[in-house]
Amino acid sequence: MTVAPEDGLGDLLAQIAGARGLTCDGYKPNCLRRRLAVRMRARGVHTYAAYAAVLRDDAHEYDRLLDALTINVTKFFRNREAWDVLATRFLPDLWERRRGALRCWSAGCATGEEPYTLAIALLEQARRGGTKAGTYTVDATDLDPTVLDRARAGVYRTPALDETSPALVERYFTGRDPWEVGPEVRTLVRFHRHDLLREPPPDAPYDIITCRNVVIYFERANQERLYHAFADALQPGGILMLGKVETLVGDVRERFQLEDIRERIYRRR
Ligand SMILES: C[S@@+](CC[C@H](N)C(=O)[O-])C[C@H]1O[C@@H](n2cnc3c(N)ncnc32)[C@H](O)[C@@H]1O
Repeated sequence: MTVAPEDGLGDLLAQIAGARGLTCDGYKPNCLRRRLAVRMRARGVHTYAAYAAVLRDDAHEYDRLLDALTINVTKFFRNREAWDVLATRFLPDLWERRRGALRCWSAGCATGEEPYTLAIALLEQARRGGTKAGTYTVDATDLDPTVLDRARAGVYRTPALDETSPALVERYFTGRDPWEVGPEVRTLVRFHRHDLLREPPPDAPYDIITCRNVVIYFERANQERLYHAFADALQPGGILMLGKVETLVGDVRERFQLEDIRERIYRRR
């Protein structure tokens, strides 16, 4: 992004990058300024230079800022219809073709609800298809190490499950508010820190990539680059699931077949 040097934003971003390795240049400028404004208001400062000083004095403020910048909102089976469509229209065929050995990537996984959902969908498909568990995996990545710690812990309050059917809660979770993800689900998911704007896909090729509610904060050129990286990382015939309000942009559309416009599901040609 282009930043007027005189307003101190460039120095602030350099300081954040140096301290926490978060480089913000792929994000939409207005989005970035709005998020910073939230934290600046909370700390009662009015300039980027003053906020840089707050960060230098109080290391915890970096954590709050990272939360504000990356907004980690998520839940199990978020937009439930999309998961129903994946399970009924796409998983059976992929499963058949790969004999159950599916490799998946949840990119921008936040606190883990999405990759665990994917793992549950695979386990359910295995039940229907009569295949043993353990032949498929989910890589789950995020930029923010704090959310990854929570994801690895696998412990959730009830609202995180309000789109999940009671039968699945019963089958795959233990405890009760907090709920804990069961071992059968956990063993399928591997969490890694990973920056979508800077690093290649962790372990391509994949059969399914979910990247939902992440790229809306990225500038268009970065979105296009990332979608090409997803196309490169998917097997031909592999599935890409985006968030409810996200859509492929640019010439990368030629590399995908739009399968379900409502649920933003694409198939790699
Ligand atoms: C709103 S959450 C989406 C969670 C989940 N995919 C869903 O749809 O429910 C957005 C996540 O994207 C992550 N994120 C933002 N920029 C990223 C980047 N450059 N690389 C990897 N993850 C990023 C954030 O840390 C955050 O956890």
